[in-house]
Amino acid sequence: MRITFCQGVLAVAIAVNLLILYYISKLQQRLLHRHRDHVQPGSRQPLCPPLRPGLTILIREFEDFENYVPDVVRSLLKQNPELPVVVTADHLPYPPMILPNTPNVQVVLLKPSPDLPAHIFKPETYVRTEYVALVPDGVKADAMTPQLEQMLEEFKSSQDKAELVAAPLHSLVPLQCLNLKVSLKEWTAEYTAAPPASRICAALKGEAVVLLRTKDFFNLSAPLARPLLTSLFIQTSLRGWVIRVLDISFSLLHQPLLTSSHNQWKADNLGKANHLQLFRDFGIKRVILEDGKVQWFGCGKETPRCFGTIHDDTPEYLYLNRWTPPCCLRALRETAKYVINILETSGVRYWLEGGSLLGAARYQDIIPWDYDVDLGIYLEDIPNCELLRNAESGSIVDEKGFVWEKAIEGDFYRVQYSEHNHLHVDLWPFYPKNGLMTKDTWMDHRQDIEFPEHFLKPLVPIPFAGFLALAPNNYRSFLELKFGEGVIEKPEYPNPAMKSMGKGS
Ligand SMILES: *[C@@H]1O[C@H](CO)[C@@H](O)[C@H](O)[C@H]1NC(C)=O
Repeated sequence: MRITFCQGVLAVAIAVNLLILYYISKLQQRLLHRHRDHVQPGSRQPLCPPLRPGLTILIREFEDFENYVPDVVRSLLKQNPELPVVVTADHLPYPPMILPNTPNVQVVLLKPSPDLPAHIFKPETYVRTEYVALVPDGVKADAMTPQLEQMLEEFKSSQDKAELVAAPLHSLVPLQCLNLKVSLKEWTAEYTAAPPASRICAALKGEAVVLLRTKDFFNLSAPLARPLLTSLFIQTSLRGWVIRVLDISFSLLHQPLLTSSHNQWKADNLGKANHLQLFRDFGIKRVILEDGKVQWFGCGKETPRCFGTIHDDTPEYLYLNRWTPPCCLRALRETAKYVINILETSGVRYWLEGGSLLGAARYQDIIPWDYDVDLGIYLEDIPNCELLRNAESGSIVDEKGFVWEKAIEGDFYRVQYSEHNHLHVDLWPFYPKNGLMTKDTWMDHRQDIEFPEHFLKPLVPIPFAGFLALAPNNYRSFLELKFGEGVIEKPEYPNPAMKSMGKGS
């Protein structure tokens, strides 16, 4: 039988096809096995081969509506086609971002999709090198790879001195080196300028390429929170890590990066929203900037009190090993000063009571973990104050927005910071009887007891919360009578049985 040329070609083609099919099926089986291995319940570390040497570029900070990420990635790959690049975004960027189609460039979405496993949405699945470089959008990547390698060398040679290295972006505003002290207990981040020419910083102001160990980066609490560097330095400073600023710098493709003022405005607004969300997530309510300006987050007249109803005298923040949010202390001071001024001008005799007197004696201020202010007043003086008189028949909002009311829980008065914000000063009416100050209803508190009237004759001024308030004379004995001996010297939380100062803090 003679085989024509055409038949020959056909036979060869069929054979090649069969071969291809065979290999594809083999490959599929292998992939299937691998897949099964990964989803196998109980297999501990599904996707964690050891990190390999070198660095991955991570791009996190860019805008959907205008960005240069594809340009940056393309020019990086032109210099080094193997360079691993991970672009992370909360949602799929839209309009779509057209990136080079190669396995070393990955887009990672941080928002999980309910049909896919969790590791897909974790960037640490994709960053498989020992080091990671956080690169801002719009970096001019022409000569970037040698510079990044230089950064890596510098990092390796200074590892015992700094956990991060940074190279500034050539920008209209020079990179600023800052000190940063974060106190979660006081809900506060305080930036101060580092001495000029400092190279070791706790935080940076301005844009920079930052390089660190991958395992350090992904061991942070929220490595990819935005704004990326603000968030990063809050976390690293809490760990005592420092940044070394290098003599390397990068340029931007153009400046400003965003081409229209409308886009700039959009980016600024999103940046502000990210800041707010970050501080909310991290529980930071006061930010002191390097120029001394103070930013407050939360606790205004229009917001609810930033902690809920108190159970067992122990506010929820104590269980988080935190003290009263500073904005709440500020609002309490303001309310106390306001109420005391009204009492003084209307002729109601008052004195600092309970924890507030203790705070005055110990700190000349509200106790840093206290949640209200307590004042004693003479019952017979109540008619002198119109606001207290009117509060008898229901709560009233005064001209400054403070709310005066007779408390439902007992025979006392309460002045709230505002209708929305229920931070308050409590006024406890006492009357004299046989030389003792007494009242008709008592709260279940150790300090809520009768006491000799001579403590109030005379009342004495004491610095409290930034002004002078009146206190019982001989207030040390007064406090020791109410709280026990040595109370001024021995700070303790209000209910040590529930949460004591030493326990777990
Ligand atoms: C991760 O951080 C914790 C403390 O925050 C530390 O104890 C632990 O050693 C770190 N792990 C690695 C792998 O660095």
